[in-house]
Parts: sequence; C-alpha cells; structure tokens
Amino acid sequence: MKNIILMGPPGAGKGTNAKRISSFYKIPHISTGDMFREAIKNGTSLGKLANEYISKGLLVPDDVTIGLVKERLSNPDCANGYLLDGFPRTLEQARALEEIGKEIDRPVNHVLNIVVPESILVERISGRRVCKKCGAPFHIKTLQPKVEGVCDLCGGELYQRKDDNEETLKERLNEYHKSTEPLIKFYRDLDLLNDLDGDKPLDEILNKVNDLLKD
Ligand code: AP5
Repeated sequence: MKNIILMGPPGAGKGTNAKRISSFYKIPHISTGDMFREAIKNGTSLGKLANEYISKGLLVPDDVTIGLVKERLSNPDCANGYLLDGFPRTLEQARALEEIGKEIDRPVNHVLNIVVPESILVERISGRRVCKKCGAPFHIKTLQPKVEGVCDLCGGELYQRKDDNEETLKERLNEYHKSTEPLIKFYRDLDLLNDLDGDKPLDEILNKVNDLLKD
C-alpha cells in the first residue's frame, strides 16, 4: 500500500511530481492548496476564509485544514493508497495525521522530501503558469506547454497564481522554514523520510521514487 506524503518548500515541484507519481501508482493526488483554490474559485465560505490567509502567504488555520483532509482521506478512493501534497505543514497537522491514519487504518508509510536550493525556488515560482481547469503546472522556460497559454493535458487556459509574486513568496518561505521544516526531523525520527533531489529531470525523479517505494 502506498500512503505517501510529498513535502518540500514552495516551488520545489510537489504538484508537478505528485501528478506523475499518483498517475503512475493510480492513487488519488490530494493537494490542500488545490482544494483551497477550488473553494476560492467557487466562492464558498471555506474559500473566503482560506483566501484571507493564502493571499498573504500565511498558512490556513490547522483546525480547518485537518478537518478537510480527514474527510478526504476517509473517501473510498483512498482505500488502496493516496498521495498527500502540501499536507501536513505543521507539527500539529502531522500529529493529527498520525491519529487519523490509525483511526481509518490508512497510516502514512512513505514521506518524500523534495530538496531544491532556494535560489531555484524563486525562478520556478516567478515563471510558473498553472492550468485554470486541471491545475497542472507549467513553466515559461523549463516546462513549456506545446501551445503557449494552453494546458497540454486538458486544453485549459494557463494563468499566473495570485500568490506567485515576490512579496507573498517571501512570506510563504518564512512559513515553510518556521512551521514546515521541523517536520523533516519528525518523519526522520519515525524512519519514514527519504530526500529527493528536485533539481533533476522529472523522469529521473520518478525513477528514484520507484526505487524508494519498492516494497
Ligand atoms: P500550495 O498550493 O501547496 O503551494 P506551495 O506549497 O507554496 O507550493 P507550490 O504549489 O507553490 O509549489 P510546488 O512545490 O507544488 O511546485 P510546482 O510543482 O508547481 O499551497 C498554497 C497555499 O495554500 C499556502 O501558501 C497556504 O496558504 C495554503 N495551504 C496549503 N496547504 C496547507 C496546509 N496543509 N496548511 C495550511 N495552509 C495550507 O513547481 C513549481 C515550478 O517549477 C513549476 O513551474 C514547474 O513546472 C517547475 N518545476 C518543478 N519541478 C521541476 C523540475 N524537476 N525541473 C524543471 N522545472 C520544474
């Protein structure tokens, strides 16, 4: 069973690699960032709340995020594995996830930590374009779509995320160092964590993941 967490700083390539890994293993890709963006697009009360934090580069409160993930992981499509992208991001979320895993008998058994130098993150975020329809990320230099402005996967329109500006990115990186980086030790101590070099070509990263996930 592949119950996986994919972690890393903003722009490390979580979304990009999560799509490839989840489709390879045929497991659902659960991105809290995508869930919040969908709620914002639909103007729901969750979306309004999440937008207050996301627009400033801050983390959405733990109780809201934990409730959302607990409900999602309880869905029948997670019975044969799942890939979490962007959750957990705080120690409180990680501890809650341990409890949820036991409760629903779907404990995390692999944590993949994408490592990328900070200078590359800024370049990646500023050049990123995302599909409005399916959320697939592209890049104006390193991962160009076949047709400019159009998603290769679903034909949707590509746009730049509102939180992909220099000021908000600074705050997102602060939040990462303060709240999320401590999870590296948390999962290393549980003997679940492996690092991935996120500066390699995507096929090489997937091969490495396959090696690490071999049971
Ligand atoms: P979220 O959507 O999770 O954003 P993030 O963590 O800041 O990560 P990004 O989506 O910016 O980057 P990524 O690592 O997915 O990189 P990507 O694959 O796109 O969260 C957004 C916000 O929601 C948060 O700030 C927070 O407010 C809130 N939130 C979400 N989860 C939360 C939680 N658990 N608790 C509280 N709040 C939460 O890649 C970046 C670019 O690089 C792309 O253009 C891509 O094409 C390119 N690229 C990637 N890999 C490669 C490669 N190997 N070679 C060349 N180019 C590459």
